[in-house]
Amino acid sequence: MNKRVTKRIFKKILEAMQPGRKRYIKISSAHLSGISYLNIGDAGLEFLEDLGRSGLKFKVRTTINPGCVDYDSTVECDPEVVEKQRRIIRSLKNIGAIESLTCMPYLFDNPLRKNQKIAWAESSAVLYANSIIGASTNKEGSLTALASAILGYTARTGIHLRNGKKPRILFQYNGELKDEVDYGLLGYVMGVKAGAEIPYLRLKKPVGNILCYKQLLAGFGTSGAAPMVWIENLTPGFSRVKKPVRKIILDRTTLEEGRRILSEEAPPFHSKRLVFVTGCPHMSPEEIKIFHETLRSVDRLSVEAWVFTSRSAYLESFQKGLLAELSEKGVRVFKDSCVMYCSLKKDGAHVITNSVKAAYYLRGSFRLKTTLKSLKEFVEEYGGR
Ligand code: F3S
Repeated sequence: MNKRVTKRIFKKILEAMQPGRKRYIKISSAHLSGISYLNIGDAGLEFLEDLGRSGLKFKVRTTINPGCVDYDSTVECDPEVVEKQRRIIRSLKNIGAIESLTCMPYLFDNPLRKNQKIAWAESSAVLYANSIIGASTNKEGSLTALASAILGYTARTGIHLRNGKKPRILFQYNGELKDEVDYGLLGYVMGVKAGAEIPYLRLKKPVGNILCYKQLLAGFGTSGAAPMVWIENLTPGFSRVKKPVRKIILDRTTLEEGRRILSEEAPPFHSKRLVFVTGCPHMSPEEIKIFHETLRSVDRLSVEAWVFTSRSAYLESFQKGLLAELSEKGVRVFKDSCVMYCSLKKDGAHVITNSVKAAYYLRGSFRLKTTLKSLKEFVEEYGGR
């Protein structure tokens, strides 16, 4: 790949997004998705290897999403997939990527501040960056985020325009949200109804912590196209933003419609391999601690539990001794990888998860059957048998 020609191609990609004057806006951070070999295959691998050899370098701090392998635990994965995932990561590092391998880069590897202009792919991270931190990024695709990382700017479109963050539709939820799954389902249903419009969310009885909102935003990013949700009493600047006139009231019936699409009854635990999967988006050290505490009175789980997290969160939890104790109870903790994990693809296990996003993709892409249960429900049902 010729360095100059490649740069020109990337420029054309961004140009196509915003024709006319004032096309671009400078960015200070990028985050890339589409780096799992299971998603991009050989064509993507070759493209990134060519790019890695071109001599081009990222202009801004650039982190990368998880792949499909944890290199400390590769026995269940196809050796070819393991090797090809390694080559993808090596190529991205050649261009200057930080080997973050996480979908929560905002926590350790690519921290943000309010009003920072960035170009991030990975919908859950985009929604978090805009709605919780107050940064500004469109929901970039893998290619546009890559182009922006190389050029140092992005198209001045969508959220970067004047009024680009204006909410267009108000959702009001009057009922109780009992756990993180309810929050995820609410986000999912809102995404279906909002389409590409930015919503403003008013909860009559908010009880959830930041971790519940993380699930809400990931659920929203799964079904909706908008890059942010204004959350009353949470999103920076929510009190100053003009509230939309168009209002939709949501209730538990709407949530249950979402549950029917993504969840079915789990088979008895001795009749089929059941795996509880959590960490979509990746679990923070705080969430790992919550899981650890939920398991306090459990000797050993009766089904496998898999936690997905980042390297940094893994290290922090390891140093606190939490991972050793989780392991004794039958919990495996993976880093660098996504819930779209290499061995889950071929196993045909029934997956129980507290993540609406994980249920959506495991059903859609891996054709697995899924059941939604919160961490607490899972431990109550499968702890101590
Ligand atoms: Fe992260 Fe993979 Fe879920 S990238 S948000 S764990 S689908």
